[in-house]
Amino acid sequence: MSTITIIGTGNMARGIAARALAAGRNVEILGRDAQKAQSLAAELGTSSTAGELGRTPAGEIVVLALPFDAAKDVVSTLGEALAGKTVIDITNPVNFETFDSLVVAPGTSAAEEIAALTPANVVKAFNTTFAGPLATGESNGQVLDVFIAGDNAEATAAVASLVSDGGMRPIVAGPLKRSRELEGFQFLVMTLQANPAFETFNWSTGLKIVD
Ligand SMILES: NC(=O)c1ccc[n+]([C@@H]2O[C@H](COP(=O)([O-])OP(=O)(O)OC[C@H]3O[C@@H](n4cnc5c(N)ncnc54)[C@H](OP(=O)(O)O)[C@@H]3O)[C@@H](O)[C@H]2O)c1
Repeated sequence: MSTITIIGTGNMARGIAARALAAGRNVEILGRDAQKAQSLAAELGTSSTAGELGRTPAGEIVVLALPFDAAKDVVSTLGEALAGKTVIDITNPVNFETFDSLVVAPGTSAAEEIAALTPANVVKAFNTTFAGPLATGESNGQVLDVFIAGDNAEATAAVASLVSDGGMRPIVAGPLKRSRELEGFQFLVMTLQANPAFETFNWSTGLKIVD
């Protein structure tokens, strides 16, 4: 059985781990706080292990369940240990001081900035799915759409297969530069979610193409 390494022990780590386990993968949780990593692995069950951030990830797929700045630091520190692996960037690089823009410049994206720092094949995914629906595997009874962008066909296909095996619908949107639109799209969703005019746009919502 293949292993997915998740770096981070927060809300998205928990949600993506739940879907990876549902997909029949083993899960390795790595965190800067070994105790938090152990607790999350214990909560997830027998197909999960834990370790400290800094060790070479066991998984062929590595999920960065971290804030954008931390994700950049972590891939830089891991360096060649990530060579040949698929790294999933889930970040939404929102400027939380103004909540009025992204912190990445127009014409690029968090995913592309992370890709420039690592020899890994970086794939954008899961940035438009909130943690709660990931944990339960649905949003108001509907299958979750997971938008995926990447430049390496094998890496993108591996992420799409993880998504479909986990009971969600993968939508491969195109090359890694499509992350610009995915990050902008989710920023819009977040501003609507914070807008009191839209009472029902809560943490259990999901971005979905209706067809
Ligand atoms: N929450 C959502 O619904 C959602 C949806 C889509 C995308 N995202 C994106 O997913 C990412 C994670 O979000 P989250 O909601 O899971 O956040 P979270 O619950 O706050 O968890 C963040 C994790 O990152 C770790 N971390 C923070 N700074 C670090 C550093 N400098 N070095 C190493 N580890 C560090 C934290 O460790 P400690 O516990 O030790 O502080 C924690 O394990 C973010 O980029 C966010 O934009 C979130």
